[in-house]
Amino acid sequence: MPSVYIETYGCQMNVADTELVVGHLAAHGYRRTDAPDGADVIMLNTCAIREHAEARVIGRLGELARYKRRRPDVRLGVTGCMAQHLRGRLRERAPWVDVLVGPDGYRRLPELLRGDGDPHVALRLDPSETYADLPSARESGVRAWVTVMRGCDRFCTFCIVPYVRGRERSLPGSVLLDQVRALADAGVREIVYLGQTVNAYHDGTWDFAELLRRTADVAGIRRIRFTSPHPSDMTDRLIAAMAECPAVVPQLHLPVQAGSDGVLARMGREYSVAEYEALVAQLRARVPGIALSTDVIVGFPGETDEDFAATEALVTRVRYDSAFLFKYSPREGTRAWKWGDTVPETEKGRRLQRLVALQEAISAEINRRLIGAEVEALVEGPARRPPGWTSGKTPHLKTVIFAGTARPGDLVRVRVEAATSHTLSGHAI
Ligand code: SAH
Ligand code: SF4
Ligand code: F3S
Repeated sequence: MPSVYIETYGCQMNVADTELVVGHLAAHGYRRTDAPDGADVIMLNTCAIREHAEARVIGRLGELARYKRRRPDVRLGVTGCMAQHLRGRLRERAPWVDVLVGPDGYRRLPELLRGDGDPHVALRLDPSETYADLPSARESGVRAWVTVMRGCDRFCTFCIVPYVRGRERSLPGSVLLDQVRALADAGVREIVYLGQTVNAYHDGTWDFAELLRRTADVAGIRRIRFTSPHPSDMTDRLIAAMAECPAVVPQLHLPVQAGSDGVLARMGREYSVAEYEALVAQLRARVPGIALSTDVIVGFPGETDEDFAATEALVTRVRYDSAFLFKYSPREGTRAWKWGDTVPETEKGRRLQRLVALQEAISAEINRRLIGAEVEALVEGPARRPPGWTSGKTPHLKTVIFAGTARPGDLVRVRVEAATSHTLSGHAI
């Protein structure tokens, strides 16, 4: 039986795509291996979101050339967003790569790995491809990631995703519910629905709110999350579903990107700071205690000191539980590409550092307020440290560790005794 080794880069959707590819290849007689050395096929499932993501893969490809020299029979593949983004240029930079496959070409992997099939088709975006019929080899555990929609139609001016993942399309709700029921039967307790604009989900009959309500009725599923919603697609129906379904956790990743209206407009985000904050207020009113996280880009072309100060002010006002903070990285092919990269690297670094420090302080403050409180941990497994401790997640997606052991999937009440910006710790009650 031929073996396949895959490394995954990028976001959770890519992790889910790797599970899909492994499942598809397994149905064609491949088995997954977790070491590249003896593997018949070595693949990198790649990301193109920032320059840095691509640079890492280019570096890794250089290392893979050595496998090819030692074992000319090994098949090397590059899949995912970066394959789609660079296409022929990748073939020039790494001619030892055998197959390049974009996010809509995975169905063809078995034939491409055999050396058949049209390699150009593998890089064609196909707006009807949802892989709804392909089996996914999910890592069994307490939590499962389920892709509900693919692609993105928003075209934020900085973002490569719509170009590499193509048009937005949703999987049929009935297919998704079947997947969720099977996962629940296999012991999964938490479902994370995935999509680049997950709340734009619509299968022609159900919108995302309806999908959440139906999912909440599946026996055995204790928690439901989703990522990433676009603020402009947060409908009243969706907020009502979050408020009314106990299984839908009080936690939301709500990317804001910037805190000044001028930058938001040039980013093409389609909301103002005031609209975003009104949405936050509505969420907090309807879902008491909701934990919020966000994404912010610093150093977008033309971002002034005042613009950045407005971002700091917004982060201070909203008080996110956590945030992913990025330096702007120009992506060829996007609308913002032609505006250049006007904020110097050192200034981007300074802004990023300030924001990181601000957010760390806020996260620590929010978490410290939980000392003395009881939280519910969904157990994932042993904590990395200290030895003999167990790690889990709260409904608010905070990591909590506690003394003693418990089985993955158990729900344990924990009294919080200490907190940092990233972790709560305490004892089971
Ligand atoms: N679909 C999600 C996010 C996708 S990418 C959404 O709309 O929120 C994850 C994050 O990467 C984005 O939220 C953004 O903050 C960041 N990002 C995307 N393109 C970027 C770029 N060119 N430079 C820096 N950060 C970028
Ligand atoms: Fe990119 Fe914007 Fe689509 Fe998110 S919504 S994937 S940031 S284009
Ligand atoms: Fe990267 Fe593609 Fe995800 S560009 S962030 S792997 S959608």
